[in-house]
Amino acid sequence: MDKRGPGAQVGIGLLGLGVVGSSVATALRSPVGRDHGLRLCAALVRDPSRQRAVDLPPEMVTTDPDAILDSPDIDIVVELMGGEQPALEYISRALSAGKHVTTANKEVISKHGERLRELAAENGVSLQYEASVGGGIPIISPLLNDLVANEILGLRAIINGTTNYILTQMASGGTSFDDALAEAQRLGYAEADPTADVDAHDAVYKISILARLAFGVSVPVENIYREGIRRTAAQDFRYAEELGYTIKLLAAARREDGGLLVRVHPALIPGDVPMAKVEGVLNVVEVEGDLAGPLWFQGRGAGAKPTASAVMGDVLRAAAVLRHGGTLPQARQIDPGLPLLAMAEHECKYYLRLTVRDRPGVLAQIAGVLGDLEISIASVLQMDADPERGAADLVIMTHPAREANMQRAVQRIDALGVVDTVANLIRVESYPADR
Ligand code: NAP
Ligand code: HSE
Repeated sequence: MDKRGPGAQVGIGLLGLGVVGSSVATALRSPVGRDHGLRLCAALVRDPSRQRAVDLPPEMVTTDPDAILDSPDIDIVVELMGGEQPALEYISRALSAGKHVTTANKEVISKHGERLRELAAENGVSLQYEASVGGGIPIISPLLNDLVANEILGLRAIINGTTNYILTQMASGGTSFDDALAEAQRLGYAEADPTADVDAHDAVYKISILARLAFGVSVPVENIYREGIRRTAAQDFRYAEELGYTIKLLAAARREDGGLLVRVHPALIPGDVPMAKVEGVLNVVEVEGDLAGPLWFQGRGAGAKPTASAVMGDVLRAAAVLRHGGTLPQARQIDPGLPLLAMAEHECKYYLRLTVRDRPGVLAQIAGVLGDLEISIASVLQMDADPERGAADLVIMTHPAREANMQRAVQRIDALGVVDTVANLIRVESYPADR
């Protein structure tokens, strides 16, 4: 259908009418959508009887995907269902049918982005996914457009709103993990299955997408080091604060000697750096380009309206292509000279919390193990001694050490008779002045 004539409308089909889909439907039917000639044709749901945040005419709501994927009136398909299947199948069908696609689905893009980008190119249409990382923060578009002349040196991000909300609530001292998670779900930040957030799959999907765009490296999600926030306990926040740090779920990708290291794990962040103050559902992505230097993208990483903002940006770009022709920028070429490095190669300072027997000689045994593995102790705190149980918490801060050595040390310390538990090992993130 010719979309270039005066008054020609661009037909939109929504796959999903939940938290984000309802907000996008509202935006499409607002003056912004109408003034740009966008027309919402149909929205796919599972259960048409469900109460929704948007009131659509019943004939617009369907349970039949073909009503969208095979409709000649629909030019742009917006996938907001989530999950790998049938979302992947529907996106593939839409692209093959010559429809532009925008999606907020980080799982599909991180696992199948390469093939879908090829499919879009083969069919002369666009595949956009600004909302898949960082909710309302424009980060995909800057990587695809404004920063293409840069060699990206590193990315460091808080890209999961739910865990940042939970960690912020826990840091403030008043909330348990379970209460903070329940509130995040009530507010619509958390995925239906919180495992994706809490065990850091969501952050892994997102850093995989960002690393592909920033470095031209295809980063399979199963090759990314992943550690969630379940082990992070109230004491860790207390001790971290005493040592001048806070705790964040960090996603990072950086060029190191010999390759690219991509990792997601809780990290001690110095309390006086800006990232330590990114609280609640806010997300941030720090990008360091060789030309641009350090950049900082901060905003609401989840929620109906911020995510709809990113989706609508994509839809309007696709509509402009339909009206005026041209193409949208492609992801960088794959760089075969930048291999992925294993987490064992990482080097940083560590925070190690142990529950130990409170008696002479304990520290000497632990220090012996660390010394054998060339790990130098920076400081030791003995906290929360419990004379009745004869136990105490020991917090050891190390100087920079190799991950492989630290993991070996943890195994050997855990086997010492004087150590009840290795309660937590948290990496300390270094910042230029701290290196
Ligand atoms: P949601 O509230 O669970 O909505 C999902 C929608 O998809 C519902 O309308 C559901 O129908 C429909 N749906 C799911 N599976 C379907 C199927 N097999 N057939 C037909 N319809 C189906 O999810 P959401 O929070 O809006 O998230 C949507 C996407 O945006 C996800 O990829 C998510 O990761 C991403 N995202 C979300 C946020 C956020 O803050 N929520 C932020 C950034 C990105 P029913 O309503 O009938 O169940
Ligand atoms: N569950 C995700 C988060 C939603 O908490 O960040 C945004 O992708």
